[in-house]
Amino acid sequence: MDRRSVCLLLAMLWVSAHLGSPGLGLRALRRTTGGRRGSAGLTGEDANGVPLRRSKRGWMWNQFFLLEEYTGTDLQYVGKLHSDGDRGDGSVKYILTGDGAGTLFKIDEKNGDIHATKRLDREEKAFYLLHAKAINRFTNEALEGESEFIIKIHDINDNEPRFTKDPYIASVPEMSDIGTSVIQVTATDADDATYGNSARVVYSILEGQPYFSVDPETGLIKTALANMDREVKEHYQVVIQAKDMAGQMGGLSGTTTVSITLSDVNDNPPRFTKTLYEFRVNESIELGSTVGVIRAMDADVGENAEMEYRIMSSDGPGMFDITTNRSTQEGVIVLRKPLDFERKRQYSLRIQVENVHINPRFYAKGPFRDDASVKILVEDVDEPPVFEHSSYTMKVREDAPRNKIIGSVNASDPDDKNWTVRYSIDRHTDMDRIFSIHAWNGSVFIQRDLDREEKAWHNITVVAIESSECDNPRQFSKVPVYIRVLDVNDNAPTFATNYETFVCENAKANQRIQTVSATDPDEPPGGHSFFFSLAQEAAGKANFSVRDNKDNTAWIVTRRNSYNSLQKSVYHVPVVISDGELPVQSSTNTLTIRVCTCDREGNMKLCNAEALTARAGLSTGALVAILLCVIILLMIVVLFAALRRQRKKEPLIISKEDVRDNVVSYNDEGGGEEDTQAFDIGTLRNPEAIEESKQRRDIVPETFYPPVRRPPPAPARDNNGDVRDFINQRLQDNDSDPTAPPYDSLATYAYEGSGSVAESLSSLESATTEGDQDYNYLSEWGPRFKKLADMYGGDDSDRDS
Ligand SMILES: *[C@@H]1O[C@H](CO)[C@@H](O)[C@H](O)[C@H]1NC(C)=O
Ligand SMILES: *[C@@H]1O[C@H](CO)[C@@H](O)[C@H](O)[C@H]1NC(C)=O
Ligand SMILES: *[C@@H]1O[C@H](CO)[C@@H](O)[C@H](O)[C@H]1NC(C)=O
Ligand SMILES: *[C@@H]1O[C@H](CO)[C@@H](O)[C@H](O)[C@H]1NC(C)=O
Ligand SMILES: *[C@@H]1O[C@H](CO)[C@@H](O)[C@H](O)[C@H]1NC(C)=O
Ligand SMILES: *[C@@H]1O[C@H](CO)[C@@H](O)[C@H](O)[C@H]1NC(C)=O
Ligand SMILES: *[C@@H]1O[C@H](CO)[C@@H](O)[C@H](O)[C@H]1NC(C)=O
Repeated sequence: MDRRSVCLLLAMLWVSAHLGSPGLGLRALRRTTGGRRGSAGLTGEDANGVPLRRSKRGWMWNQFFLLEEYTGTDLQYVGKLHSDGDRGDGSVKYILTGDGAGTLFKIDEKNGDIHATKRLDREEKAFYLLHAKAINRFTNEALEGESEFIIKIHDINDNEPRFTKDPYIASVPEMSDIGTSVIQVTATDADDATYGNSARVVYSILEGQPYFSVDPETGLIKTALANMDREVKEHYQVVIQAKDMAGQMGGLSGTTTVSITLSDVNDNPPRFTKTLYEFRVNESIELGSTVGVIRAMDADVGENAEMEYRIMSSDGPGMFDITTNRSTQEGVIVLRKPLDFERKRQYSLRIQVENVHINPRFYAKGPFRDDASVKILVEDVDEPPVFEHSSYTMKVREDAPRNKIIGSVNASDPDDKNWTVRYSIDRHTDMDRIFSIHAWNGSVFIQRDLDREEKAWHNITVVAIESSECDNPRQFSKVPVYIRVLDVNDNAPTFATNYETFVCENAKANQRIQTVSATDPDEPPGGHSFFFSLAQEAAGKANFSVRDNKDNTAWIVTRRNSYNSLQKSVYHVPVVISDGELPVQSSTNTLTIRVCTCDREGNMKLCNAEALTARAGLSTGALVAILLCVIILLMIVVLFAALRRQRKKEPLIISKEDVRDNVVSYNDEGGGEEDTQAFDIGTLRNPEAIEESKQRRDIVPETFYPPVRRPPPAPARDNNGDVRDFINQRLQDNDSDPTAPPYDSLATYAYEGSGSVAESLSSLESATTEGDQDYNYLSEWGPRFKKLADMYGGDDSDRDS
């Protein structure tokens, strides 16, 4: 029995089992290479022609199976549709519709054979849904109802396993134990995983042994070697293969690369590269500056290489400090206290370095710290002299005699070879040369008389310079010296103000008419105490008395009733004021008292004229000042007005002659009022300036010929000959001058006759007084034009004019 008949038989059995009517209805026949399963569905009439109840079930066709990737030359046979109504007379027509009908799948409409026209790929489309119909070719009557069936594409192992990534990147800490998971790799196989081993993948390691292993089932990569050291080898390339067909021969395979990096763990301690570091440092370096940098090496990286430095011991406690530069992990030794070569020339430190992040697992391997010695050698620097004190304060009485020593400063050279120090006073601080200093011992003298009342403090600066055999002016230092001038009672007290008072004619005796007080520029430490009294000479027949209040004031009191202004209009009362200091200073101050008529209440009504003006009027000084102000104001007003008028009147061209001159001499259009460049009238008024060859600044000359300078003509016998010679000379010049204007131009020349009284070129009047016609003409034009203008000379007829 061939395969086909077996299928047929099976199909019939299946049909009869379902319908109990074998041999009837549309039968689908299929063939498989595996010959595994085959069946057919059918419906229609039973043997007696009675139509069977149509049921979907009756049309549940089995699937056709078709091999993917068929490579044969003829069309691949899929199966056959057959209707029981087909009697082989060609009246039945089979029709196929659905996925790929007519293109991928073709049916022989006569015998129902289905063929695949193309290679099919299961991985592209695993099954196709189709519909079959059988109709009568002539009547188009459906012999069978439309039925649906599936063509399933049967898998073959045509896809190799593919890894989801290539390459994989992974890392695992160094020093990991055996079997530490690193990464899981996965390969997928497009083939049908539900069928056969085509999609069953097995992993194996091709490269990377003996460091790593892979689990064949799961693809998990693990370490296979203990204590791999990143510091020995950091990067590994592992190649993993995935093979399908469960890894058997004939299976397809794919590979991937896994880059595995060992990540760092702190398994190495920092180590100094030297046991002794030596640094030289100037004694003058500033506090906080770097003395030296030391460095310990650590094979680890990142935070596992971070370290901390410490000063374990030092023979200069607190002198130095060490910090870590976080970006370089260097130990930076900085200065904390000033160095002094003359005091200590060398320091020894013991420095320890330790990792910041210690991994206890490796702690047992050895000490995680290291020590080194650091030697710091202090170097001498030539230092400026140092004053004993940062400032000096000296006191001197204002009456101190000249050349008196008021104090001393003291500076010394801190260097080993200590030079003597020379002192001087910074003259900018003692412009008046009041003080001097002994250059070698620093004693300060006074040179001039002092006056505390004028200047109580003299703050000067003393300079100390090292005085080596070749004076070293760079090494100097300065110190302020505050000199306080002490007070001596050298001033007498005087009235506090210029008192002017009056007494009423009807005054009674013992009436207080004025309170007086006193001032004294001296400043006694216990404050002032002034004593007032009437001057001795006036005491006899005094008309007023002075009553000292013992509080630095005194009253002026009348001594008799009634004063008469007609009899005596002004009294001058001499008051003696003395101070309480030693030596006692006193002065006699005169108080002027006028006699005035008063009302009953004692208010002043009338004083004599002298008294009034003096009281009411202004002092002459103030009057003069006011007068001066008024005059100055007036002058300013007048000046301002004059200036304004002048500005208004000033025209562009001052006189008629100037207008004419301009028009005639410069046949060009200026730039209007604004154009100050095109034409310089000042030149006309000052012909001498022309010699400077002023180029028009607004026009670039095409060719520039320097003006020809001629020696002045020799003095002539008389004025006429003089002029003629001059003109001839100019004509000749012009004829031979390549730069001269064309013939039909007119040239004018300035000419001042030899006998001219004109001292200056503006002296037109003096020139005209000569009365000579020709000369007159020239003098009118000439002085204004010494320059060759846009005119011409050269025609004989012109020569006479
Ligand atoms: C020390 O100071 C000297 C000048 O006094 C200078 O020339 C030298 O460069 C300095 N040395 C250091 C290390 O700073
Ligand atoms: C650390 O050292 C680097 C390189 O020498 C330097 O540029 C940086 O300024 C230092 N940082 C500190 C905080 O000292
Ligand atoms: C100045 O000071 C030095 C020590 O710094 C001392 O030996 C010397 O006597 C002092 N001179 C005076 C005049 O005080
Ligand atoms: C300077 O030298 C003198 C001797 O020349 C010595 O007596 C003195 O102590 C020295 N001063 C300093 C500050 O070294
Ligand atoms: C400095 O020298 C002067 C002049 O020789 C002398 O009068 C003065 O006393 C000296 N000063 C000191 C502090 O020795
Ligand atoms: C001088 O110094 C003293 C003390 O520092 C100060 O009181 C005074 O105002 C200063 N005088 C001048 C003129 O600088
Ligand atoms: C006092 O007043 C009388 C007249 O009134 C005068 O003669 C005499 O000189 C006055 N005495 C003094 C000291 O002015």
